[in-house]
Amino acid sequence: MNKVIHCAVRRDLSRFRAALESFQDGDRARAAGLHRAWENFDDQLTHHHEGEHEIAWPALLAVGVGQDTIDRFDDEHEAMASALAESRTAMGALAGSASRADADSAASSLAKLEEVTVTHLDAEEQVTEPLFAEHHDHPVVKEMGRKFGKQPLGVAGTFFAWVQDGAGPAEMTALRDEVPAPVVTLLPLLFGRRYRKEIAPVWATSGSH
Ligand SMILES: [Fe+2]
Repeated sequence: MNKVIHCAVRRDLSRFRAALESFQDGDRARAAGLHRAWENFDDQLTHHHEGEHEIAWPALLAVGVGQDTIDRFDDEHEAMASALAESRTAMGALAGSASRADADSAASSLAKLEEVTVTHLDAEEQVTEPLFAEHHDHPVVKEMGRKFGKQPLGVAGTFFAWVQDGAGPAEMTALRDEVPAPVVTLLPLLFGRRYRKEIAPVWATSGSH
């Protein structure tokens, strides 16, 4: 599941890169659409990393990860949070002006965000993927999955709509291995309406997939 989320994060970052590169000066509708997609991305990444700090780190410590590794992950999260804040300001400016100049500065903020984020996601996967596979049935790992699963239906609906938007076959298989099929299919349909109506079309028209 963590890998599926990471794929969605990487996918959005590259979609923003392409969209900002091809942004046409004065295209207010596109600027507004990108800002809606940005707000969702910002929420998802913030929520994911706050959740890791509270829920995943205790599980990692319990299956043998050292405190030094956790501290390094926390430092990387802080670097991401500050790059995220800078990008939030830049995307807000673009939403206000719809100018090519603001698309350029948003692109340079997001390039920094992408660099620190991808570096962190790669480092985290190297440590956690083999461990979670090895300790899949460990009570602490199962408990972690249950805690991550507890969220309001609206939040879960948006989340499942987002991770599936543009997902390839490998991610869909991984998702269905972890989550019952009705949840994967029905949550976005019933509770992910806002994502499907207001954000998915932003990417559908960008020619990114
Ligand atoms: Fe992380």
